[in-house]
Amino acid sequence: MTDGKEAKYKVGMIGIGRKGAQHAGAYRLDPRTHIVAAADTDEENLEIFCKRFGVRGYTDYKEMLAKEDIDIAAPILPVRPNPGVVIGCAESGVKGILCEKPFAATLEEADRAVNVCKANGVKVGAGDLDLNLPAYQKAKEMVDAGEIGDVLSIQYNDGSGTELSGGFIQRFSIIRMFANWAEIAWCIGWTTDDAWKDHDQGGAGYFRFVNGIEAFMSRDDDARGRGFVVNGTHGVLRNSNDVIRMYKSPATGVSSWETLQEVTGVFPESSIRGREGTTPGKRDIIYESDGWQWPGDRQVASVKVFVDYLEQGLDPPGSGDNGRKVLEMAIGIRESHRRGHTAVQFPLEDRGLRMIPHQGRMEYKKPQMGRDAYMDQMAKRVKDDLVKL
Ligand SMILES: NC(=O)c1ccc[n+]([C@@H]2O[C@H](COP(=O)([O-])OP(=O)(O)OC[C@H]3O[C@@H](n4cnc5c(N)ncnc54)[C@H](O)[C@@H]3O)[C@@H](O)[C@H]2O)c1
Repeated sequence: MTDGKEAKYKVGMIGIGRKGAQHAGAYRLDPRTHIVAAADTDEENLEIFCKRFGVRGYTDYKEMLAKEDIDIAAPILPVRPNPGVVIGCAESGVKGILCEKPFAATLEEADRAVNVCKANGVKVGAGDLDLNLPAYQKAKEMVDAGEIGDVLSIQYNDGSGTELSGGFIQRFSIIRMFANWAEIAWCIGWTTDDAWKDHDQGGAGYFRFVNGIEAFMSRDDDARGRGFVVNGTHGVLRNSNDVIRMYKSPATGVSSWETLQEVTGVFPESSIRGREGTTPGKRDIIYESDGWQWPGDRQVASVKVFVDYLEQGLDPPGSGDNGRKVLEMAIGIRESHRRGHTAVQFPLEDRGLRMIPHQGRMEYKKPQMGRDAYMDQMAKRVKDDLVKL
């Protein structure tokens, strides 16, 4: 942890509810960043946060941006205000913006936010946590180096549940990463609810990338649990329940599942989410010295990768542009269903198309849950013998 005095980048948090406080914990652990201020329309949340981090608070983020010298703006907001605030930050002169996902509910809003960031030379990340984990970065590096030959297809055995946009969007990013960030040529798909509704829902589909790579995604988890398989001409990369393994064809002879040889000593033996844990009943809760929950490997990695890329003047892998493209993938699946499961060409022409996240992501949760239930959830993030909310 750093007191931030030497830090290169001053961070302004915008929206410090449950997820925002977690992001802030990761900025505090990165020696290159220092949180100087926070903005939130909820004064109760703002007071808790400012007391914890010892920073100035504002109820209007524009006032914060005007009065403070912010390098990185961190809007961790419900989806409805997110694109507008990203634009406000980009126009204020910050160097980088790292927000949450989904980036926006409509393609138009996502386009506008990406374009304004680009026009202002601002680097923007849209909340992809998973692909920043060191094991995913290593896997991508090895696949790029040709360890499994040419990538042919990506198969996701981790179902979309009830959220193509809200939840599965991070998986779309991993699909795009192993498809070498290529553009999509077309997709076909189906959704689980009424495809004529604009709300987020489950679904499944097939994507054909312009480089010929194929991606298949299913509706439900199968026996392998959370994960995916990347199939190459000379090997296979697989993630089953957050344990990554790579297998390569033998140098000679005919290859089969039985003869593929495992690459050992590269990936962790257990969950790549490390100390954050994901196995039900085995989640390790680690507290920092101030009594608040440690932000977790994914969050720490997400901030680290964002700052690494910012230092090089680049958008991070889970960029704003990626944020709009994964939204387009979710909408593409539904559009195919609407058109009788026929192929939908990309990019989607109608930029007015939207996928509205579940209420809990789209709008602020405290008014939905009621103040007491919401504050109970906040209280679960602290050791109650050390911190009183
Ligand atoms: N990447 C992940 O794994 C992951 C996990 C959970 C949540 N999320 C995303 O994080 C986002 C936030 O989730 P959360 O659980 O912290 O939400 P939350 O409802 O707990 O908190 C939102 C905060 O934003 C503030 N806010 C709302 N509108 C504002 C505005 N215009 N200006 C300033 N502050 C404003 C609220 O007062 C509140 O403090 C959502 O988009 C959600 O989809 C991502």
